[in-house]
Amino acid sequence: MQANAPGKLNITLAVGAPDERGYHPLHTIFQAVNVYETVSVRPASQWTVKTFAGETELQFVDPHEHLAVRAVHALFARFRLLGAASIHVHKRIPIAGGMAGGSADAAAALVATRATFGLPLGDNELLEVARSLGADVPFCLLGGTALGRRYGDKLESIPDTPTRHWVFARAHRGLSTPEVFRTFDHLVSQGRQAASLAVAAGVDTDMELAPLEPDVKRALYDTEPVSLGKIMFNDLQQAAFQLRPELAGTVQAALSEGALAAQVSGSGPTVVALAASAEEAQRIGRALQELPQVAGMLVTSGPGKGAEVGP
Ligand code: C5P
Repeated sequence: MQANAPGKLNITLAVGAPDERGYHPLHTIFQAVNVYETVSVRPASQWTVKTFAGETELQFVDPHEHLAVRAVHALFARFRLLGAASIHVHKRIPIAGGMAGGSADAAAALVATRATFGLPLGDNELLEVARSLGADVPFCLLGGTALGRRYGDKLESIPDTPTRHWVFARAHRGLSTPEVFRTFDHLVSQGRQAASLAVAAGVDTDMELAPLEPDVKRALYDTEPVSLGKIMFNDLQQAAFQLRPELAGTVQAALSEGALAAQVSGSGPTVVALAASAEEAQRIGRALQELPQVAGMLVTSGPGKGAEVGP
């Protein structure tokens, strides 16, 4: 059986001060996009994983670092399954991009494993397993648009938001997520960046989900995308710019080309731009592709679907 799970962007991303483990509490609005990882899982006598991007086979230094493998292992352990699995991952989401490609692999692997082995596992239990694999995995299961609290893993769906057109500009080299968070802390300690989230002052991160602010909710549902552009922000952007100054040029170029908003996606280095229409997205994508710091672009739309069994 195989399953698909979407990539994502963070429409808003507020970051608080790190907890005792060094993890940063987040308050974020996720949107899944219509770019999917496909993972198939088959019973086998030996563990194998193969990962392809198009026709190219990708090598992982340590297969146990592969989130799809960890996801299948987690379900084998939980249900004490014997034997092994052969896992096949077809990647479409850029790697190390801030689009949660690894988390989408895990989400698709969970759904594919449940289907392949007929595991009696409800969606809530699956979310629990997803949480143990990584903060973005639950959202890749859920899809759509959602408010994420705590580490982004405590989710509240924001159903039926209108279609948006997104352009993603890939960078030539990945950025280390821990390094981006460390740089964020450094900027905050120097007073060069205000942590926009109240958790910076030590708010209980387990608190109940707060409702969305009315202007944010209006912008999410407004059929005109202009107001959505106005509420977008990313607290990690300055840190990503500090580590990769050329990303500021990518953001600026997208805005000059008429994007309604442009910002670093997640912890970067991918830059995401909101376009007024599908045609505009294509045009902005072509312009960004000309920039030397842009390795490639991806034009897509959201909200995408959550992880599900499919062709
Ligand atoms: O979630 P992921 O495994 O990609 O996180 C990698 C690292 O990024 C973590 O080990 C941590 O250093 C940092 N991080 C963080 N706060 C988060 C998410 C990640 O500090 N909410």
